[in-house]
Amino acid sequence: MAEETTNGPRHVAVIMDGNGRWAQMRGRPRLFGHHAGARRVREIVEACPALGVKYLTVFAFSTENWKRTQTEVAGLMKLFKRYIIRETQALVNSGVRVRFIGDRIRLEDSLVQLMDDLELATSHNDLVHLTIAINYGGRDEVTRAVRRLAFDVEQGKLSYKDVDAEVLSRYLDTHVLPDPDLVIRTSGEARISNFLLWQSAYAEYEFVDTLWPDFTAAEFGGIVRSYAGRDRRFGAVKV
Ligand code: FPP
Repeated sequence: MAEETTNGPRHVAVIMDGNGRWAQMRGRPRLFGHHAGARRVREIVEACPALGVKYLTVFAFSTENWKRTQTEVAGLMKLFKRYIIRETQALVNSGVRVRFIGDRIRLEDSLVQLMDDLELATSHNDLVHLTIAINYGGRDEVTRAVRRLAFDVEQGKLSYKDVDAEVLSRYLDTHVLPDPDLVIRTSGEARISNFLLWQSAYAEYEFVDTLWPDFTAAEFGGIVRSYAGRDRRFGAVKV
């Protein structure tokens, strides 16, 4: 994969929506759509270096997704495990560094072990930083961060007077990542659904009708390129 520098987004976050509808339209179970969706992830990751996208963060399972049927939840957990096992070698070889965000406490030990192993196996890579959000919710992340921060205050490691946005950011799951520049959501829904709430304060949003399993690298590239022409002022006035 060749790396290219552009004035496009450095960090793109994606809400991969529409797998269920994609499967239902074909008369197949929802999990069939999730499997097709997982295959798309590889294609989008591979497209990143040529587009100058250094960081890609994908929403794979939200803190609200536990409300789905037991069959779907169990199927998704199995899919994550299979994905990690199958993709590890390709990710290592292609320079992708993988991280997971979200609360691991509710995940099966065997899945957490695979996640840890994949993070370690790819820890020397730097071409693309792929972050996969599993059991992730923006409010949950901020709540966990504040709890840890409050603990440090209680322990005397930190004064409440020193708490500002920068300090709080250091307690978030994403503390090593830059904020996303662009957030894409597929499948026609114009909601952010608790994804990277804090980090996306100044992000551009792009909502597309395409269902995630139909979302190609070409469509991704078109959105990323069109971002380069946008005028982001971060609240300031253009001079
Ligand atoms: C949303 O579609 C999708 C999910 C909740 C799961 C996302 C998972 C994948 C794309 C596959 C795994 C990814 C990795 C990185 C291993 P939906 O089910 O809400 O679709 P619907 O809105 O049509 O019902």
